[in-house]
Amino acid sequence: MSLQKADEHDHERWLKEKDLSPLERSFLVSLIWMDKRLRIVDYLELLETLYYRVNLQMPKSHTEQYDLDNKFWYWYPLYTLGFFSTLAYVVAAISGALLGFYYSPAIGAAAAGEQSVAYQQIAFIMQDLQFGYMLRSIHRWSAQVMTAAVFLHMLRVYFTGAYKEPRELNWLLGIVLISLTMVFGYTGYLLPWDQLSYWAGQIGVEMSLSIPLVGEWVAQLIFGGFSLSQSTLMRMYILHVFLLPFVVTTLIAIHIGIVWVQGIAEPH
Ligand code: HEM
Repeated sequence: MSLQKADEHDHERWLKEKDLSPLERSFLVSLIWMDKRLRIVDYLELLETLYYRVNLQMPKSHTEQYDLDNKFWYWYPLYTLGFFSTLAYVVAAISGALLGFYYSPAIGAAAAGEQSVAYQQIAFIMQDLQFGYMLRSIHRWSAQVMTAAVFLHMLRVYFTGAYKEPRELNWLLGIVLISLTMVFGYTGYLLPWDQLSYWAGQIGVEMSLSIPLVGEWVAQLIFGGFSLSQSTLMRMYILHVFLLPFVVTTLIAIHIGIVWVQGIAEPH
């Protein structure tokens, strides 16, 4: 029952009579305050019921079935790879947000062979900004560690058979996540707008153009034209710092939420 529906004076009397620590008291007072406005207790109960219903339908894990509670299985360290992917993602997100204070996605009036504004900002971060080289290195390294960890995590899931029923959906979500991780890497690689970025962009345009029937449309959509320009850099920037962070964060939350509901698959 919602706290809202109970007699308000009951709460106050009960809170006075109980011997509560200041922390417990302020927690309960805030809970009652929130519940009066948002009925959170009702919704929490609903969530709890849902959680137990879902869990009841799950098959027994290997550990439960064979009573292996105290056994250490030599593959277990590899079960931390999903966590390392998440950790690397968080580090990349924080260092990326800080880099965003100094970077600018502009080519400017640079003629062919001259430095773009984007490149000059990267040079500023590396040479003049206090600890700038460190910030950029943390971002690049965490991005690469994430890619490696996600790939190894996928191998772990495959070789332990953890993708099998009832975890097919999380495997499919994983495929989307590894693809988006690579798109993250590619869009970020283009941002310094140096020679490596430029020619990687050129390869991207040509790969898009080589798609039968819809190639030109895809090149327009992703790269803003058939040759590299300010529109290309702006698109990569928006994908990298706006669109992908929202989408990937949401999908990782759903992915881990599903693991939480289903429980970890034990080796078979
Ligand atoms: C951004 C990328 C990813 C993140 C942050 C992530 C995170 C996680 C975490 C924290 C777990 C808990 C178990 C563990 O750590 O091993 C997990 C489990 C799982 N992941 Fe991922 N994952 C990612 C990508 C993938 C990919 C690429 C696949 C496969 C194509 C995948 C499929 C699965 C499956 C099937 C499980 C359940 C495994 C089990 O129950 O033992 N994930 N993931």
